[in-house]
Amino acid sequence: MYKPRNYLEIGVNDGRSLTLSRVPSVAVDPAFRVVTELSCDVHLVRATSDDFFARKDPLLHLRNGRNPFRALARKDPMNLFGSDPKLELAFIDGMHLFEYALRDFMNVEKHSRWSSVIVLDDMLPRNIDEAARDRHTDAWTGDVYKVATVLRRHRPDLVVVEVDTQPTGVVLVFGADPLSTVLKRSYDAIIEEYVVPDPQDVPEEVLVRKNAVQPEALLGADFWPDLVRARNLRRPRSAFEGLRGRIPRSA
Ligand SMILES: C[S@@+](CC[C@H](N)C(=O)[O-])C[C@H]1O[C@@H](n2cnc3c(N)ncnc32)[C@H](O)[C@@H]1O
Repeated sequence: MYKPRNYLEIGVNDGRSLTLSRVPSVAVDPAFRVVTELSCDVHLVRATSDDFFARKDPLLHLRNGRNPFRALARKDPMNLFGSDPKLELAFIDGMHLFEYALRDFMNVEKHSRWSSVIVLDDMLPRNIDEAARDRHTDAWTGDVYKVATVLRRHRPDLVVVEVDTQPTGVVLVFGADPLSTVLKRSYDAIIEEYVVPDPQDVPEEVLVRKNAVQPEALLGADFWPDLVRARNLRRPRSAFEGLRGRIPRSA
């Protein structure tokens, strides 16, 4: 529905999600071991996401990489590969601890536009054990579900959508603001409040997916073509106001 023109993946593992990409991509994982066939032009980065974002020009590949649009890059009317390449779709699925996922979101947002889509994986643990910070289960979400709570509380300018996918849910975030400093300023206080020892006190509404939208409802919603058009035409952030109310937010 969104037809992204570039993609960032944090947490690659064996490449199962990366194999879906058909656009210029950057994929980051300190221990990837890709065994699937990849069908995109990708820069695979063997680093933690924190180290990756600390680099001078982490998304260089999306500007200069060997991609099918390289010849067009100098003209580049969309500034897709211009001096400051912006992410269109990002998938955050790296370290499953709250503070890592929050930093991943903050770093991704800095390289996004309001029209970007940021997806976080494993946001709907099915039980307390799965949500433990100290992993002791096969399927593991850790406590990254808290990122949605924090974004709703500190960043009401964003639209945060829980999606009822199997096995452990995703969250989509719309309306990124690369200039926002709210999370950076509150980071220490947020960590102090939310990083707590196991067992995690996962809210019942998260466990029963009370507010989670069905994937079909989200994909079938009518805002997608307008979001894509606004993105492609580089409409200003004010265009988000007309779209945000059309994004399904709860079941
Ligand atoms: C759940 S797997 C990713 C699965 C993959 N996205 C998929 O769906 O096929 C999580 C991956 O995150 C990686 N990881 C762990 N810590 C990380 C970090 N600090 N930065 C980036 N990736 C990290 C792990 O090495 C692991 O391969």
